[in-house]
Amino acid sequence: MTLIQEIDYGTPASKVEKMVTLTVDGTEVTVPEGTSIMRAAMELGTQIPKLCATDMVESFGSCRLCLVEVEGRNGTPASCTTPVADGMVVKTQTDRLKRLRKGVMELYISEHPLDCLTCSANGDCELQDMAGAVGLREVRYGYEGERHPNPGIDASNPYFTYEPSKCIVCSRCVRACEEVQGTFALTIAGRGFKSVVSPSMEQPFIDSECVSCGACVQACPTATLNEKSIIDIGTPEHSVVTTCAYCGVGCTFKAEMRGDELVRMLPYKDGKANRGHSCVKGRFAYGYANHKDRILNPMIREKITDPWREVSWEEAIQHTASEFKRIQAKYGKGSIGGITSSRCTNEETFLVQKLIRAGFGNNNVDTCARVCHSPTGYGLKTTFGTSAGTQDFDSVEQSDVILIIGANPTDGHPVFASRMKKRLREGAKLIIVDPRRIDLVRSPHVQADYHLPLKPGTNVAVVTALAHVIVTEGLVDEKFVRERCDWDEFQEWAAFVADPRHSPEAVEKISGVPAELIRGAARLYATGGNSAIYYGLGVTEHSQGSTTVIAIANLAMATGNIGREGVGVNPLRGQNNVQGSCDMGSFPHELPGYRHLSETATLEMFESFWGRPLDDEPGLRIPNMIDAALDGSFKGIYIQGEDILQSDPNTQHMSAGLAAMECVVVQDLFLIETANYAHVFLPGSTFLEKNGTFTNAERRIQMVRKVMAPKNGYEDWEITQMISNALGCPMNYNHPSEIMDEIAALTPKFAGVSYEKLDELGSVQWPCNEQAPEGTPVMHVDGFVRGKGKFVITEYVATDEKTGPRFPLLLTTGRILTQYNVGAQTRRTANVVWHEEDRLEIHPFDAEQRGVRDGDWVKLTSRTGETSLRALITERVAPGVVYTTFHHPSTQVNVVTTEFSDWATNCPEYKVTAVQVMPSNGPSEWQEEYEELSKAARRVAEPLVAAE
Ligand code: SF4
Ligand code: SF4
Ligand code: SF4
Ligand code: FES
Repeated sequence: MTLIQEIDYGTPASKVEKMVTLTVDGTEVTVPEGTSIMRAAMELGTQIPKLCATDMVESFGSCRLCLVEVEGRNGTPASCTTPVADGMVVKTQTDRLKRLRKGVMELYISEHPLDCLTCSANGDCELQDMAGAVGLREVRYGYEGERHPNPGIDASNPYFTYEPSKCIVCSRCVRACEEVQGTFALTIAGRGFKSVVSPSMEQPFIDSECVSCGACVQACPTATLNEKSIIDIGTPEHSVVTTCAYCGVGCTFKAEMRGDELVRMLPYKDGKANRGHSCVKGRFAYGYANHKDRILNPMIREKITDPWREVSWEEAIQHTASEFKRIQAKYGKGSIGGITSSRCTNEETFLVQKLIRAGFGNNNVDTCARVCHSPTGYGLKTTFGTSAGTQDFDSVEQSDVILIIGANPTDGHPVFASRMKKRLREGAKLIIVDPRRIDLVRSPHVQADYHLPLKPGTNVAVVTALAHVIVTEGLVDEKFVRERCDWDEFQEWAAFVADPRHSPEAVEKISGVPAELIRGAARLYATGGNSAIYYGLGVTEHSQGSTTVIAIANLAMATGNIGREGVGVNPLRGQNNVQGSCDMGSFPHELPGYRHLSETATLEMFESFWGRPLDDEPGLRIPNMIDAALDGSFKGIYIQGEDILQSDPNTQHMSAGLAAMECVVVQDLFLIETANYAHVFLPGSTFLEKNGTFTNAERRIQMVRKVMAPKNGYEDWEITQMISNALGCPMNYNHPSEIMDEIAALTPKFAGVSYEKLDELGSVQWPCNEQAPEGTPVMHVDGFVRGKGKFVITEYVATDEKTGPRFPLLLTTGRILTQYNVGAQTRRTANVVWHEEDRLEIHPFDAEQRGVRDGDWVKLTSRTGETSLRALITERVAPGVVYTTFHHPSTQVNVVTTEFSDWATNCPEYKVTAVQVMPSNGPSEWQEEYEELSKAARRVAEPLVAAE
């Protein structure tokens, strides 16, 4: 095993198509016009000494170490800032250059603290490397002269330190923060020897605008910015390329190891989704894998009020199987079911649904994607014929107009947000449709051209009003529609949206968005060039979630913004493998690959492959399972990697349903909230401990590679396999690659996918089959998957969740950058320094009316429940709207969300709840009781945990 060292070409690749040929040190090289001499030389394997250049940021030309000679030109130009030219003849190594470079290095070294042997970057320091590369043997100026200020080390960030005395003022960090991350948190303050890197207004990092993405740390050539883990553990000695297990961006990382200890996660430049960038979660928040709360031994108990009893794996598996068999014998085949996880791999998810269909003999399988993106599946399949986003992330680089609806990319999909911000800084226009003033509305060097701050629950009205403007003002791309879509359906739709009741003026009354904003945004989207739509859960988690997805698809088809780079309809998927868990057949009516159970030939193919009869009746969705549990007909459930108690709506209903079951089996890393109702706890493995694949928001299938042995003894797929075998449904996989081979054999979209191909290409986007052996970056290029694109009428129907005198405010929910979903992982990392509790955002007007001051405890009440949390007074929300996150079980905001859900898919309506907010003295009574209960549950488990 070796440490993977990626080549640093010194400057970014040129995107110019025209090629030029030059000669470097006597050898010809052909590169795109616009390439720097430094990069052209590196293409030949010639590394010109450099300090201020790195290929993640544009060249700067400050260190003067990379000088070269160019035939016919005077002087010694910097190779990082000098572009190549046809016929150019370059020399990189002459006596004059050697002398000059030594002189430069002497100046750097003369003012650098020479504590190399005890420096944390010893062996991984470009300054050291360059001293060697130029043959520096003495420093004529001595080491006693003036130096950089040494104000001490800033260790305020939990993950990295800043030690100004080691800074060579190369500005790589400043440029990384600007160009790669787009936060602009750093500047160089002062001049000459006094110049230092300054976070915000010379503040400690923790108090600055820094979002801890780590780009500056990665860019720093010295130990000035350094990971604390490197300082603690030392430099890594081998690395493994794997995929982040947090969000649907799917960033590729090198997990850098020393022995079996993870030293750091370093973003991989060859990662197609992230292109070498990261966010604070994937880069730093992996400490949960070693947290003392992690359960490593199986446990069972008779009743949920009993203490847990640690048992062997064999006993836990046999107990699970015999309980499931007992329940089915007593209550019938359909009395048990299971839930797959969007946190787990494709292979694990595939096995869970196989266990349920082939082992349980029913289709009672559902997934956490039910509560987030199921309307995406329905809406895009109906209109385009496939349940997935249309583009790759690179596509945004070709967009002229970006329309974001119900998504907050800088918090939810931060690495893609950085790529988006880069395009916006280059001049792309931005439209945001969101009740909140999310960061992208105005952030450094980015300002939305239109922000449509609609009332929660009125998405369909607003998107249909955008369509009204496009149709009535003659902005439809008729050629595209005639060629690519069903013309009759289009005409019907056009007549519908043209109705005056869908005009911006009429919709203003419903949505609160000024009509001229809707008109302006519609004109920009339709006429601004390549227009791309990105949307999130602010679209799907509504009673009309599927209708909004359809309305968005209508908009893209009507304007011809589909089927090429720069355009498209792109759901920003929440969890790391939401796309994959849906692809793998996690829904009760569909087999893997979105094939309905009623497709007899497909069902028969699965029956023959699996050697088991399969039920052709759709099974229960999660809410139906809970209802059936309360009715007494559903008694057992296998839940892999999903905290339904905390993440699903109407917590009281959920807990009552779980409590009514006779065997709840939870497979997870921690005693999550749902485990309070479990009879069997099977410890799960982290993404660092398993092999498999995740599929990100771009349909990109990427490898997850095991970097250490599972601390619990088994990878999650092995646990499912053991249950299946104990139930008498044989599974004999030796490695997840064999599961992928089965997926490929049974699923046409995955027919060309194999671990060998993924190893070879790095990743592929499905469909990947005979027609597209290397995958499909952009979909619907020559035609829609369903044939003709389908326009569907999108009648706005107001949600039944209404404000009134008792509940006058509308609550909407979301997440923030540093925490992840129910927080089971991120709450067990140092990320809590940024967000240790959920807060309720409330507009100053609403706060004043209620006598609420910033930081006060408030009681949040809806018709389903109440919870208390602290207030955060802000104008990010409009008057009449309040907002909170759902990361902390001590708040459990889903006690107030309702049972309303999307008409087509049952996706809960998390984004609209009528509430009241009143001052309170502190946590509610139930919260205090709950806190005690959770502590008790942890106490029972504590002796069983192998502490780190
Ligand atoms: S960690 Fe990221 S946001 Fe913070 S200063 Fe560095 S580059 Fe900027
Ligand atoms: S902190 Fe590092 S990257 Fe930034 S200017 Fe100093 S040496 Fe260069
Ligand atoms: S953007 Fe998402 S996938 Fe990338 S590092 Fe952050 S959490 Fe992980
Ligand atoms: S690397 Fe070219 S001037 Fe610094």
